[in-house]
Amino acid sequence: MDRINEVARDGTLFGAPTELEVKFGELLTKSASLNTIRIVNTGTEATMHAIRLAKHHTNRKKVLKIKGGYHGTHPFNFDSDYVESVEFNSPDSVKEKLSSKEFACLIMEPVMGNTGVINPVEGYLEEVREITENTGTLLILDEVITGFRTGFHPFYVREKVVPDLATFAKIIGGGLTLAAYGGSERIMRDVRPEGPFPQAGTFSGNPLSVAAGLKTLEILSKKDYSSLKKLTDIAVESLSGSGLTVNSQVGMLSLFFTDERVQSASDALKTRKDLYFRLFERAIEKGIFLAPSFDETIFISFAHEESEVKESFQFLSEEAKRIWKAH
Ligand SMILES: Cc1ncc(COP(=O)(O)O)c(C=O)c1O
Repeated sequence: MDRINEVARDGTLFGAPTELEVKFGELLTKSASLNTIRIVNTGTEATMHAIRLAKHHTNRKKVLKIKGGYHGTHPFNFDSDYVESVEFNSPDSVKEKLSSKEFACLIMEPVMGNTGVINPVEGYLEEVREITENTGTLLILDEVITGFRTGFHPFYVREKVVPDLATFAKIIGGGLTLAAYGGSERIMRDVRPEGPFPQAGTFSGNPLSVAAGLKTLEILSKKDYSSLKKLTDIAVESLSGSGLTVNSQVGMLSLFFTDERVQSASDALKTRKDLYFRLFERAIEKGIFLAPSFDETIFISFAHEESEVKESFQFLSEEAKRIWKAH
């Protein structure tokens, strides 16, 4: 907050690049292993422009996404004549769709976060990378949720899967409106002013947002993400015996009222949403603010203490058992 106040005194918008913007860009490109990024304001903008750029670059019209995946409220997020979707963790479905070579891109989260947490099964991301490459389809990895949350890098760096384009928002702005998309020089060179692809925004890279983003990334670069993993593991262990299917990733967790595994949006939709809502109500009464819907992710952050995580999730485990029994 101090940093934002300090920067605000020098002016909040110049309509020209600032030193802070350059510094933020350098830190993000380095930690995300990207050649070039463009700063925008929201995750919606980042994914929309990444998809527009993929269409421009490949000269193809169609967009493939994953069922249940959310990338913002622009038309490319919803199935239509030119947007189609396939189930997560099904490389065969990706292969079948992309064999037509009509699709400009496949946009997906490496770990799903808008159907609850769904992890990629072993080898899935690598296989998708190979299929997209072989069919001339650009792979856009949407790290709006996972980026800098599951580690001080995008998730794809950890998994050694290199996307053609990647998108970031949420955490990188430290609470202010800041997002980015980026990729290899070969593709990003298409963007104006170097190339013909138009994309601009009055507030993109404004000093307050980049100051907040820069400070946030600097703080996160010194954090020990293994402590966040430990907190998540404590939550998962506390839920053993709850009868729930618990999916987790570093700092992310979902509770599904089912005893079957959840590996796709269709699996998630088969779970008891009504019972999850009952758990949400019981949690609120206890002073625990859970994600209100089963398909939203529960986040654990560096601000949480081990004792409160343990106590909260042990309570949720007991309540889940009670709710199961009553139904
Ligand atoms: C994976 C993902 N991509 C994109 C977006 C859109 O971001 P924003 O709300 O900043 O427009 C969201 C928002 O929740 C998201 O979860």
